[in-house]
Amino acid sequence: MKKALVVYFSQTGQAKLALDAVLKPFEENKDYHIDYLLIKPKKSFPYPWSYMEFFDVFPETVHGIPCELEPITIDPATPYDLVFIAYQPWFLSICVPINSFLQTAAAKQLLAHKPVVTIINCRNMWLGAQEKMKQRLLDVKANLVGNITFVDRSANLISLVTVLAFVLKGTKEKFMGIFPKYGVTDQDLAKAPQFGTIILKAFESNQLQRIQPELNALGALDIRGNLLLMEGRGRALFPLYANYISKKGSQGSEQRRTRVRIFGIVLPTAILLLSPIITILSRLAPVLAKRKFSKEIAYYSQNSLREQ
Ligand SMILES: Cc1cc2nc3c(=O)[nH]c(=O)nc-3n(C[C@H](O)[C@H](O)[C@H](O)COP(=O)(O)O)c2cc1C
Repeated sequence: MKKALVVYFSQTGQAKLALDAVLKPFEENKDYHIDYLLIKPKKSFPYPWSYMEFFDVFPETVHGIPCELEPITIDPATPYDLVFIAYQPWFLSICVPINSFLQTAAAKQLLAHKPVVTIINCRNMWLGAQEKMKQRLLDVKANLVGNITFVDRSANLISLVTVLAFVLKGTKEKFMGIFPKYGVTDQDLAKAPQFGTIILKAFESNQLQRIQPELNALGALDIRGNLLLMEGRGRALFPLYANYISKKGSQGSEQRRTRVRIFGIVLPTAILLLSPIITILSRLAPVLAKRKFSKEIAYYSQNSLREQ
């Protein structure tokens, strides 16, 4: 009997939908036992979020500052054969609960020298978060062998509206009756067991290096040129603005509210204004900087970290 561990966090259940779909072949295989570890912060994050709560978690999320977690429900000495981590990017970084778990002694014990597959569900911007994930996994000496993304398939500006309705209003169906439903699509979920089969077969034949190329061939990663450029801007600026807010006070403090509020206006406005410009640039980039652009796409399609 082989043992797989699934570490996950979810606010509204999208991560669990993705997990169930990918893990179907493992669940149906009697040679595998799967333990699920839901990461629970001591003080749970709100859903739906108020505007202030949502933007106030930005600095600590970007800085990777951990929150307190409930004790984990498994024995960290259990020798798992394979680990899945399902998480969401928050502000181009790893969401706080999973990032907090990755910094615990238990994570080190559970993940060291273990093959890990990450399963991301998000709006559409996951590249920066996964870079941070690669670093965290290196820190605990885990071996990242695969990554799968579940994204909202709408155009960037449409999903900007629907994600805000989703997180701030809790709207799970079509916002205002006209916008498309936010989140992971049924088509992607229907296809996902094939990803699980790829992982299972590669694991059984001890050919872990085959996992990512085979996942990619089936379209497991969503990498969009315009978002690659846009995330690059965000990742350069976010730490600066996170510092600017943190200087005024810690999470929830009255003193930093004005700066948080400004960020809450600046961020959606910047996405709104930059999105069309960056989309044009991204159409030109493959022509003007063909090699660099395709190198970047190839980089984000694999699991090692860029040499600094
Ligand atoms: C605080 C916060 C920040 C977010 N930042 C991002 C982001 O940087 N990129 C992205 O694609 N989605 C982002 N999202 C959208 C989440 O990925 C989305 O809420 C997730 O798909 C919901 O998953 P769940 O149902 O498993 O909780 C953010 C959501 C929250 C709550």
